[in-house]
Amino acid sequence: MRVLVTGGCGYIGSHTIVELLNSNMEVIVVDNLVNSSLDVLDNIKKITGKKPTFYEYDMCDKEKLRSIFQKEKIDAVIHFAGLKAVSESVSKPLLYYKNNLFSTINLLECMEEFNVYKLVFSSSATVYGNPTHLPVTEDFPLKTTNPYGTTKLMIENILVDLYKANSKFDITILRYFNPIGAHKSGLIGENPKGIPNNLMPYLVNVALGKSEVLNIYGNDYKTIDGTGVRDYIHVCDLAYGHLLALKNSKSGFKIYNLGTGKPTSVLELVKMFEKVNKVPVKYQITNRRAGDIDACYTSPAKAFKELNFTCRYTLSDMCLDSYNFAKKSIDKESR
Ligand code: NAD
Ligand code: WQD
Repeated sequence: MRVLVTGGCGYIGSHTIVELLNSNMEVIVVDNLVNSSLDVLDNIKKITGKKPTFYEYDMCDKEKLRSIFQKEKIDAVIHFAGLKAVSESVSKPLLYYKNNLFSTINLLECMEEFNVYKLVFSSSATVYGNPTHLPVTEDFPLKTTNPYGTTKLMIENILVDLYKANSKFDITILRYFNPIGAHKSGLIGENPKGIPNNLMPYLVNVALGKSEVLNIYGNDYKTIDGTGVRDYIHVCDLAYGHLLALKNSKSGFKIYNLGTGKPTSVLELVKMFEKVNKVPVKYQITNRRAGDIDACYTSPAKAFKELNFTCRYTLSDMCLDSYNFAKKSIDKESR
């Protein structure tokens, strides 16, 4: 199978490419490197011995995107490309709507024109808003709380309508929970540009002394210890989920939550990180972050039943691998 991976130089895309190449699929990548860098492809080669074909194009440029479909034989697309920082989406909504929606519509038009119908789309647990009860199943009502999340929900709705209009499409929507961790080699991982917003990259920076203290946003949530509870999933498990989605014999329109189903609080994650990495993490409790919710974790039942999806990695692996990648990146920078 020849798979076009959009946003393949990014965090989740790069790990997914490793899974695809290791299972002998051919990979073509399109990425404008707005939140990633080219050396990711060299590191993928170090891990797998193979380097995907690469196009440094902005997917908002339809003619450039179309030229890939003209040149390459494509059997399926995994669509990761997009902007994903929640707070930036609040301050720059038009940038988010333009980038995430235009790139997706261009992609879908090219797919239809060139008779490529198999698509896996990166959605997010953010489309559930503040779930009224837990665990979250795929049939929960959808509601978003920020422009980034709204782009995901709008794209989901576009895909629903597209499938209704053209049932040749074979579409899988994957709603990710909180991906953390990195490939065991430490060669690829999460490398956000600027100051990180998400918990794990920030925690890693504190452990490395790049930031002084981790702010824990509130300890008065209705959770086990008052700090926010999430469903952290190792990025390699998440990547494997994409392979299963591509190989799924069930065609049509499908939606799966990808998470472990295990709730973890901020404090539990910090304690696990300190324990397995044998490094102290200075933290302080601060005010709640606007828009945050008490708890969110999935029921993994549907993904298990229909995709045979299970998670191989533990919270301890996630903490070890995130730190290992960050330490290796620092070593490289200082050389
Ligand atoms: P990432 O930023 O590391 O990767 C996204 C990639 O898309 C980047 O390499 C970026 O350069 C590229 N890109 C963005 N706009 C583009 C454009 N117009 N044309 C070409 N390339 C473009 O993000 P990630 O964490 O790997 O996330 C991948 C996808 O999964 C995103 O769609 C994101 O919204 C979704 N997602 C991520 C998370 C998470 O916590 N990381 C959770 C749920 C959903
Ligand atoms: C996790 C927990 C924070 C940072 C976001 C997006 C979501 C999805 C995944 C893409 C919360 C707490 C965090 C910090 C903290 N992305 N925290 N101090 O908010 O669950 O989800 O990323 O789709 O759309 O909203 O993830 O990692 O930011 O926060 O205490 O410095 O850590 O309050 O409880 P979140 P997160």
